[in-house]
Amino acid sequence: MLAGSLQFDQYEGVLLRNTPDGDSFRLDIEVKSDAFWPKAGQFLQVKINPNALDPLLHRPLSVSDFDAKAGILTLRIRPVGRGTRHLVTRNPGSRIGFFGPLGEGFPLEQAGSSPWIIAGGIGAAPMVFLARALAERGIRVRTLVGAARAADLVAVEALKRFSQDVVIWTEDASAGSQGVVTAGLAQIDEMQDERPSVLYACGPVGMLKTLEATVLDTIPVFASLEAHMACGVGACLGCAVGVRTPGGAPNYARVCREGPVFPLREVVLS
Ligand SMILES: Cc1cc2nc3c(=O)[nH]c(=O)nc-3n(C[C@H](O)[C@H](O)[C@H](O)COP(=O)(O)OP(=O)(O)OC[C@H]3O[C@@H](n4cnc5c(N)ncnc54)[C@H](O)[C@@H]3O)c2cc1C
Ligand code: FES
Repeated sequence: MLAGSLQFDQYEGVLLRNTPDGDSFRLDIEVKSDAFWPKAGQFLQVKINPNALDPLLHRPLSVSDFDAKAGILTLRIRPVGRGTRHLVTRNPGSRIGFFGPLGEGFPLEQAGSSPWIIAGGIGAAPMVFLARALAERGIRVRTLVGAARAADLVAVEALKRFSQDVVIWTEDASAGSQGVVTAGLAQIDEMQDERPSVLYACGPVGMLKTLEATVLDTIPVFASLEAHMACGVGACLGCAVGVRTPGGAPNYARVCREGPVFPLREVVLS
């Protein structure tokens, strides 16, 4: 599984807008290149500080949305450390360098007639582009988004634009219904025509473990995983996760190359 050639392109965009969205930030970046053609679920390795070597490593960030006609890439960033904090302080007009698009995206051909998105916290970031891609194929998706509190919800308005409906869950009841986002699946066994054909998931490991324990036997789940990344292109093996092979032998896959999206039943969550 650990094979493949290294192919990626470098780009530089111009930051048009940097907009707070609760505790995260939405960065709209103009990318003037016909060659930049990301797929939903892919990510970019973004350079943090163009004027310094520190921090040296790029940071992996999902393509949250890409408006191909306008050439506008959207990143949604939750500042958690030096790199992300630096990025969210950039002003309009700044140049943002990155390489990609990287990894394997969500399998749109497996959507079926009634796909659902389920996203926790910043896990909603890549789901905007997924909902857009499905909508462009005439498929309206049901979206469940959850977070600890209203300020941690990400991209709700953008998801509403591309989804058939958006159901919100917060643990402290500050928006939508009270509970974790997987509570939205409680009635799934009783659903007939409305049952999801597939679940596209991105969120904390706890959310993915709940999906594994509750719906995986009856509904295909494709999950986007997070991992600490150094190279982002398959060379350092720093992002390896355990996977199940058809024969049952343990193996590893690289989140940056074979992922970040995997069939959930193939992944060993730790
Ligand atoms: C494929 C992929 C897509 C991602 N997409 C997004 C996105 O769209 N928006 C977004 O805000 N974040 C996203 N992330 C997470 C983001 O890459 C990390 O938050 C970022 O690299 C942290 O860098 P930092 O310098 O700010 O923090 P650091 O100073 O490096 O670390 C701060 C804290 O964050 C933790 N951390 C660092 N990197 C990761 C990581 N990769 N996964 C989990 N925890 C980490 C560290 O353990 C530490 O506790 C994505 C990660 C991956 C692997
Ligand atoms: S980050 Fe280096 S192999 Fe994935």
